[in-house]
Amino acid sequence: MSRSQPSPQPDAAGRVYRRLWGYSAAYRGMWAAALVAMTVYAGSQTAFVYITKLITNQSFVDRDMEFVRWMPLLILGIFFVRGVADYVATYSMSWVGRQVIKRMREEVFGKFLALPTRFYDQSSSGALLSRLTFNIEQVAQAASQVLTTLFKDILTIIGLVAYMFWVSPRLSLFVLVVGPLIGVVIRNLSQRFRRYSTRIQNSMGDVTQAAEQVLEGHKVVKVFNGEAHEIAGFERVNENNRRLNMKLAGAKAASAPITQLVAAIGLSSVVFFATREDLSGGMNVGEFVSFIGAMLLIMAPLKRLTNINGPLQQGVAAGQSIFELLDAPGEDPGGDRRVARAVGHLEFRQVSFLYQAEKGQVLRGIDLVVAPGERLAIVGRSGSGKSTLVSLIPRFYDPTEGRVLLDGHDLREYRLDDLRRQVSLVSQDVKLFDDTIRANIAYGAMRDATEAEIEQAARAAHVLEFTQRFPDGLDTEVGDRGVTLSGGQRQRVAIARALLKNSPILILDEATSALDTESERHIQQALEALMANRTTLVIAHRLSTIENADRIVVMDHGRIVETGSHAELMARDGAYAALYRMQFAGDAAGAGR
Ligand SMILES: Nc1ncnc2c1ncn2[C@@H]1O[C@H](COP(=O)(O)OP(=O)(O)OP(=O)(O)O)[C@@H](O)[C@H]1O
Ligand SMILES: [Mg+2]
Repeated sequence: MSRSQPSPQPDAAGRVYRRLWGYSAAYRGMWAAALVAMTVYAGSQTAFVYITKLITNQSFVDRDMEFVRWMPLLILGIFFVRGVADYVATYSMSWVGRQVIKRMREEVFGKFLALPTRFYDQSSSGALLSRLTFNIEQVAQAASQVLTTLFKDILTIIGLVAYMFWVSPRLSLFVLVVGPLIGVVIRNLSQRFRRYSTRIQNSMGDVTQAAEQVLEGHKVVKVFNGEAHEIAGFERVNENNRRLNMKLAGAKAASAPITQLVAAIGLSSVVFFATREDLSGGMNVGEFVSFIGAMLLIMAPLKRLTNINGPLQQGVAAGQSIFELLDAPGEDPGGDRRVARAVGHLEFRQVSFLYQAEKGQVLRGIDLVVAPGERLAIVGRSGSGKSTLVSLIPRFYDPTEGRVLLDGHDLREYRLDDLRRQVSLVSQDVKLFDDTIRANIAYGAMRDATEAEIEQAARAAHVLEFTQRFPDGLDTEVGDRGVTLSGGQRQRVAIARALLKNSPILILDEATSALDTESERHIQQALEALMANRTTLVIAHRLSTIENADRIVVMDHGRIVETGSHAELMARDGAYAALYRMQFAGDAAGAGR
């Protein structure tokens, strides 16, 4: 949930492996191909060692001319088989790895959509995105590259060790004494890797987040001359990332030489042992050469096994952070009450709400009834809880105390998708998707809307007015790869979307930013069309909206402090009158409309 993850515990590592296995277990065919290929590969290594024995004894010692003629072909044949096996093994393991990546990305993306709003409040999108990209890619390294090496090399080692025992059990037993030494070194290094790689992942998230912040807020940075501050901040996380990476690089760089040194000590003692006939029990030249050959061939896979620990542990750390996300509880799906179209009667009963216990209550004891078709304006100072109040209706959050009822039933009784079908939302800052204007209007469940329905919504929301000037009309692309719409134009698209949805409840969070009179007039007309015949809760910043409302509630510090019509509230000369003089009087003076 948060970006700081604990470093993986050994039993946690086991859990991650088992779960990763769960992702790839379905691809039995590819696994089988890989296993067969790896077995063949390992066998070819042992066969090669055996051939060295034959070559030494028959070609050089016995001078067997028949064998000498066939020997080159034999060598070529072995390498050909080995090459094909290597290719098949690497390819099929990569295939499984890419499948795992794809499936995990699907699941993580699906989870992004299923998480409760609170989750997004508590985690940065940079950290979440790096799970989808960076962490999943690392898991794939564990799934394909690591397993390829692991299986193939272990099989190779088994084959070669078997050969060694066949040639000289005594000498082989001696070699086994050297083994644990290498094991200790490997263990030591692997623990270091694990520590660093978790921290590197976290610091990578910091880097992404720092960059994302300036990308999104570049205008603020420029206008407030925040460049130096941002650069200094970035330098900190960037340097931290470099430092951690260098520690990992240091551990990695030391790993190979140390392992080789240990192996060299082993090799020299084995040669000493083997050349003492009284100790080794006697070997012929071919046996000795092939035995040493087998030992040398074992060193490479052993070295790879020690190096594999880095990506392997990175994979575990990455896997853990992904599974932590996947295991985070999703949204409460609600009860099983179905509703096709609600009447639109809303009631808040003694509703209190807090985002975080430390920050205190944001809504306190709200009692409010909104009749079907009523147009309710909510006003109040910034931070008084207006947006929070309306966000309870589509259940972005649930009240911490009290209940919200739709048509007499607690919102939690309804199936969540049914409930949300009853609610349209036009927010302060409209985010359009990278798609055509038409697709943005007929978004989500409305993508099957007919041409005529979409056009009608677009006309009523005054969208056609500006799309007519585009050569592609409603099919103009917007977003990153398309045209940039103004705030007012985007809002009209959002209004068209809400019109098309035609839900019984409408929530409007009016933009505080002043629009020019022309757009304002268009938007006002579009909104009038939208608000007709539905229960509307509008967080009002425009005088015109307030004046047209059936009722106004005034919020302050999470409470409803006044309720009534504009005239009633002005007559009372309380909080509303004060707010009106502060916020809207200028509006009224300038409003010659
Ligand atoms: N996601 C959140 N997590 C934690 N606290 C929040 C969150 N959203 C809002 N708050 C806090 O809750 C309080 C009410 O915020 P809210 O957004 O409801 O105010 P508002 O009346 O809509 O203000 P504005 O008119 O500026 O939009 C504020 O103190 C705010 O800091
Ligand atoms: Mg708000």
